[in-house]
Amino acid sequence: MSTRYDTIGRTYTATRRADPRVEAQIRDALGDVRRVVNIGGGTGSYETAGPVIAAVDPSPVMLTQRPAGSAPAARAVAEHLPFPDRSFDAALAIFTIHHWSDWRAGIAEVQRVAGRIVILTWDPAIQDHFWLTREYLPEALTDEQFVDVTFPELDAALGGIRVEPVPVPADCQDGFFAAYWARPEAYLDPTVRAGISCCSLLDQDLVEARIAKLADDLTSGAWDERHPGLRDEASLDVGYRLVVSA
Ligand SMILES: C[S@@+](CC[C@H](N)C(=O)[O-])C[C@H]1O[C@@H](n2cnc3c(N)ncnc32)[C@H](O)[C@@H]1O
Repeated sequence: MSTRYDTIGRTYTATRRADPRVEAQIRDALGDVRRVVNIGGGTGSYETAGPVIAAVDPSPVMLTQRPAGSAPAARAVAEHLPFPDRSFDAALAIFTIHHWSDWRAGIAEVQRVAGRIVILTWDPAIQDHFWLTREYLPEALTDEQFVDVTFPELDAALGGIRVEPVPVPADCQDGFFAAYWARPEAYLDPTVRAGISCCSLLDQDLVEARIAKLADDLTSGAWDERHPGLRDEASLDVGYRLVVSA
């Protein structure tokens, strides 16, 4: 059972919580359902997007950070779900599928236990345009610790999908990788980086060297010269996508 989040998830809730605008989009995608399971549910973010009655996650460190009163959570992986067939009307898989060791087996299991599936993931082709990836940390998206899952592959595995862009608000409350696109100073904070697996799973000497370059560019004004007006945008498409099964 993967427990990488037992190491990198210790301070997760310091910076990671549901953003209300992203959550509203997830709620719309779930639609009118009664029983929802949260796969890779971790600390419970986004479970108020719908009637979540159960969650699974392999990491005890993540599970122990779930707030009191949240849905009962089992220690399990997507690839082996401890539920009978058709236990749920829908399943959530938020920022998790790229961590699954066998995503096809996970999707097959989720299809066995649930009806509609709502996945929040990213499009690497678009996230490649994000300034942090392009100018400072290209390794963040090519890291071999992440599983590549393409939309055509998801389409085939799920028998049809709808893909929606998830615009990221400038003041996004959930500190995922590109959440701070308009607040570059945030990436200088080690606690912010600890909540972002594409930073925390990389070699930390490399990350610190690249972040030192960012710090220099912020001090000299070079970052603002390269990104005129970016701090004033309200939201940005940084490649996040909601994938909803047909
Ligand atoms: C970035 S966190 C996302 C947690 C939560 N969904 C959220 O939005 O905050 C990724 C989660 O996926 C979990 N995970 C890793 N491998 C998994 C697997 N094979 N099946 C289910 N969850 C897994 C991790 O333990 C971690 O809690």
